[in-house]
Amino acid sequence: MLTLTTSSAKETFHLGEILGRLLEPGDVICLQGELGAGKTCFVQGIARGQGVEDYVSSPSFTLINVYQGRLPFYHIDVYRLTDVAETDQLGLEEYLEDDGVVCLEWADRIQPILPPACLWVVMGKRGPTERSLRFEPHGARYRQLVADFKAAVEGRD
Ligand SMILES: Nc1ncnc2c1ncn2[C@@H]1O[C@H](COP(=O)(O)OP(=O)(O)O)[C@@H](O)[C@H]1O
Ligand SMILES: [Mg+2]
Repeated sequence: MLTLTTSSAKETFHLGEILGRLLEPGDVICLQGELGAGKTCFVQGIARGQGVEDYVSSPSFTLINVYQGRLPFYHIDVYRLTDVAETDQLGLEEYLEDDGVVCLEWADRIQPILPPACLWVVMGKRGPTERSLRFEPHGARYRQLVADFKAAVEGRD
């Protein structure tokens, strides 16, 4: 497990960008953390690292925003979902099985339908501009990803 702290939105974005460069087809990134923790900011960085050139907005109202970078990029936010059963109608499982990259805000709300292998990023507010990011890999692919990410953050790549 890896825990990092940032002291500005720019820093959080930058960490996302480093992670985004390392993502491969089918990768699923699950984000957890209170409103304002920086989930969207981090995903904006991931999108940049994936080569997405469009502005990445919060999908709080739209639920799913689709972009194209090096790979298809699915930014999902299930904050407004009241029932896991609704994910059927949205076709969420299809996105999770797709060969693109999925970033999922409020993933803890739909835990039952998540793939067992994924990367959890648990974010928290530590101060007005301080945020913590805890990286919890599930499965061999994501353990390797976190190791590569750590090396890249420390400038060892
Ligand atoms: N270290 C930081 N990392 C990320 N965002 C930060 C940080 N410090 C302050 N902020 C601010 O906190 C807010 C985070 O918003 P957002 O990314 O939309 O959070 P969430 O998607 O978790 O609700 C933004 O207004 C951002 O400018
Ligand atoms: Mg958000």
